[in-house]
Amino acid sequence: MSSSHATYLTISSHYSIIGALVGTLTGIALITNKEKLKKQALPMIKKPESKGPVYSLEEVSQHNTHEKGVWVTYQGHVYDITDFIANHPGGPQKIILAAGGALEPFWALYAVHNTQHVLDLLEEYRIGSLSKEESSDQAADIKDPYVNDPSRHPALKINTKKPFNAEPPMQLLSDSLVTPNEIFFIRNHLPVPDIDENKYELEITGEGINTVALSLEVILLWLCRISVTFT
Ligand code: HEM
Repeated sequence: MSSSHATYLTISSHYSIIGALVGTLTGIALITNKEKLKKQALPMIKKPESKGPVYSLEEVSQHNTHEKGVWVTYQGHVYDITDFIANHPGGPQKIILAAGGALEPFWALYAVHNTQHVLDLLEEYRIGSLSKEESSDQAADIKDPYVNDPSRHPALKINTKKPFNAEPPMQLLSDSLVTPNEIFFIRNHLPVPDIDENKYELEITGEGINTVALSLEVILLWLCRISVTFT
């Protein structure tokens, strides 16, 4: 990668680059912060007592298509959700990702499911349980995808923790004309990516511009830093 790539860029694309770089550099600064957000538990099911037969993870994994039926597991229980797929408010393409396996990794990403209302809905589809051993093996394998999220300013008014969405409190917002970065509105859709600085590449593409890929080294050493105030 050389600085000659910059000569290909149009004036308008410079704004895209600045925007992308501001976002990227902010992300990188946050990622280097090693403090972790406290683990937020997934909701527990209301009726943990077993019902129906005991299935193995192997049996569940075979039910991963409409034809064979779509089964999933949640906190040690097995659900046949074949008839629910078409009605899923998040769309059939998303829910099918969990077919034949555990819901927890997906629900940890999409915190909208962390409500009793969703658990009551799920309960309607319960057909059995996993054995105690397989259930605890599975639980041990499930990692919190938000564990590497950076810590944020404690003054932020948090709307959701996972994904992290927060806004400046009204009392501080009126203190300055330009909101300080630490309390600026934050809206993530998924976990903050945990990137490898040596492999990271920022690709800039779009209609009418030549695609360029910039390594972190190039971004930090070769490009000049510009501060942009935006609202
Ligand atoms: C049987 C399992 C599932 C049930 C019962 C279920 C139920 C629901 C419900 C009730 C909502 C609407 C929530 C609300 O707006 O209050 C929802 C939204 C959603 N679900 Fe699921 N879901 C399931 C599995 C999944 C899986 C496995 C994924 C991802 C792979 C997923 C992704 C989503 C997404 C992206 C939304 C929309 C979120 C939004 O618009 O903010 N769901 N689900």
